[in-house]
Amino acid sequence: MRLLIVSNRLPFSVEENEGKISFKESTGGLVTGISAYLDSLKNASFTKQEHVWIGWPGNEINPKLENDLKKKALADFNAYPVNIDEKSMDCFYNGFCNKTIWPLFHCFPVYTAYNETFWNYYKKVNEHFCEAIVKIVKPGDLIWVHDYHLMLLPKLLKEKLPDTPIGFFLHIPFPPIEIFRLLPKKWRVEILEGLIGADLLGFHTHDYTQNFLKCTLRLLGFDHNMGNITTENRILKADTFPMGIHFQKYHDTASLPEVQEEKEKLRSTLTGLKTILSVDRLDYTKGILNRLEGYQLFLQNNPQWQKKVVMILVVVPSRIGIDNYQKMKAALDAYVGKINGRFGSLDWTPIHYQYKYLPLKPLVALYTTCDVAMITPLRDGMNLVSKEYIASLTDKTGVLILSEMAGAAKELGEAIVINPNHKEEIAEALKEALEMPEEEQKRRNTIMQKRLQEYDVIRWANDFTQELTDINEFKQKFNARLLNSSDKKQLIKSFKDADSRIIFMDYDGTLVPFAGLPENAYPDEEILQLLKSFSQYPGTKIVIVSGRDKQTLQNWLGNTSVDMVSEHGVWIKDSGSDWQLLKPLTSDWKLKITPILKTYSDRLPRSFVEEKEFSVVWHYRRSDPELASIRAKELMDDLISFTANIDVQILQGNKVIEIRNSGINKGIAANYFLSKNKYDFIMAFGDDWTDEDLFKSLPDNAHSFKVGISPSHAKYNLKNYKEVRTLIEGLIK
Ligand code: UDP
Ligand code: G6P
Repeated sequence: MRLLIVSNRLPFSVEENEGKISFKESTGGLVTGISAYLDSLKNASFTKQEHVWIGWPGNEINPKLENDLKKKALADFNAYPVNIDEKSMDCFYNGFCNKTIWPLFHCFPVYTAYNETFWNYYKKVNEHFCEAIVKIVKPGDLIWVHDYHLMLLPKLLKEKLPDTPIGFFLHIPFPPIEIFRLLPKKWRVEILEGLIGADLLGFHTHDYTQNFLKCTLRLLGFDHNMGNITTENRILKADTFPMGIHFQKYHDTASLPEVQEEKEKLRSTLTGLKTILSVDRLDYTKGILNRLEGYQLFLQNNPQWQKKVVMILVVVPSRIGIDNYQKMKAALDAYVGKINGRFGSLDWTPIHYQYKYLPLKPLVALYTTCDVAMITPLRDGMNLVSKEYIASLTDKTGVLILSEMAGAAKELGEAIVINPNHKEEIAEALKEALEMPEEEQKRRNTIMQKRLQEYDVIRWANDFTQELTDINEFKQKFNARLLNSSDKKQLIKSFKDADSRIIFMDYDGTLVPFAGLPENAYPDEEILQLLKSFSQYPGTKIVIVSGRDKQTLQNWLGNTSVDMVSEHGVWIKDSGSDWQLLKPLTSDWKLKITPILKTYSDRLPRSFVEEKEFSVVWHYRRSDPELASIRAKELMDDLISFTANIDVQILQGNKVIEIRNSGINKGIAANYFLSKNKYDFIMAFGDDWTDEDLFKSLPDNAHSFKVGISPSHAKYNLKNYKEVRTLIEGLIK
């Protein structure tokens, strides 16, 4: 099995100089995390998993050098570069990714651009990635797509490679629905549909997962059960996987002699000063200006700390082609100048500012040298720097000040956790950190280190890929329940060979799709013709077994020769005779129950009550799905206690709750027909759990079909009503 990692950013950026190419290291949590995981795979002697990393090489290069690039990328990084021209990259990467999705998903709606051209390029580049992957994928591969640049890709891939397991991980926050729905309708739906093309979707925190599930429910109408989503024809899962770091790498690097040497050097230049570290990519989400405001207030409020403390501010250049980033750089330079000018003197500079990328060793040297790390983003999907800082503290001294807006705060609760919008809180946290006794530092860091060591990046990636593999195995088992062509041939033969046949068919969701209003789900011409032909097939009895009232069935299907069962088995219409009650029933209870249902329909807009002769139904298909699911649970609770002494049963169907006399179900109705005659071919179709009574009641040799892809007592599953129609056509042709 090969693991295909797909991300916009590769672990290197290509540069072209006098006809030669060279590689420069990339920055960002995605690259650090995945590189560390892939390195661990290379070094592990027990598992040899082959991998390929597919992504954009960071710059457009001369087409003549493309072959060199391919060879070098493969040799040095096992990477497969996807070339994208500059114009596309500008509209895709600078445009839709970083002017639309990045600000919006980090809850900065005022920075968000809504530009149709950007969106079109976003689609185009996702398609381009899909084509590139399709060219290199092999049977048995597992594809793992990463981050917000490629949210349409899972669906595109699933269409082309339905049997390949596809995972997706989002490295940034998934915003609350109130923010997500600011995207134009078409875009937000296409993005969600793109994402649910994956078999497994991973998010850093429980909140992001819940936000995504809420959007899927409210904007696409797909509910979930513990993160498992069932669409019309697929099952997929959304789950939380907080990304870790390569703990051992940071811990061990901190002890290397050259890192120790670098640490000594730094210490000697900072003698007598406590050090505060700040490390980020240049990004408005990182809250660097807020941090400086907090530091300024700290110096102002605590003159005793002046000349005794220094801030080392490392800012890594990032996304320099985007105006907001350029503006922020200018504001940052000015603010650093302001603080240094206001508080500094010839013998003391409050902020040492470096605008550059640091490779691993100098970075870890800084981590181990500094007394305090101030990581205070306004919003951050995870933030690995905070974890790396803790991992590098070999003597366990050092204090982390962490924003509660970083995903990492969920795991690093022993840090001093602050709200980055409040400069007073930052200033107080700094004082607390600088004055924290060593014993307390060690106590806190020991707990955090243990946690980071246990759930490191290798565990994170293994958990994700294992869950993806498990889902795939489950799907394969499930696919075995789908009717394959040889089963179908055999079925047609048994059907044709039989002398007397009976076919039980549910109506809604089985023969026709659901409609917002029940009265709109009337039979189309195709199904009417099909039922006519099916019921006229010699030696074949067709029984429609429905929860509908008898009048509706009569009006809609009365012109075909089918037999009918209405209200889930209350009424029966058998070969030419009139409707009759299957057994004597009462309906006095309806007087008590109907008002309860009416109260609920008043409380839930667009829900309504349907009264049948011996049952009453509360429908909520058209209501807000989230509120509806709460109200449905409340109603179920109310009904269960209210009906304890009444001889009725409560059924929760597909967006309906139905109350009817007990002792009635579709299985009992089917037995009525089966006991009257002998049949040598029995078949049944249904989509709802009320059809499970039917499936359970049939003899072992019956052929039963659940419509939809959830588990069932039926022998086979068909994906939807269209497959039912195709199967019937196959039987009678
Ligand atoms: N990083 C680095 N050199 C630097 C600054 C940062 O290698 O000078 C790395 C850092 O070690 C971390 C990553 O860049 O692994 C930043 O990841 P994080 O999740 O903190 O933020 P992101 O940049 O992904 O938003
Ligand atoms: C964040 C994103 C990554 C991205 C990184 C660096 O961590 O989640 O996908 O690679 O920032 O940003 P860049 O735009 O340089 O790729």
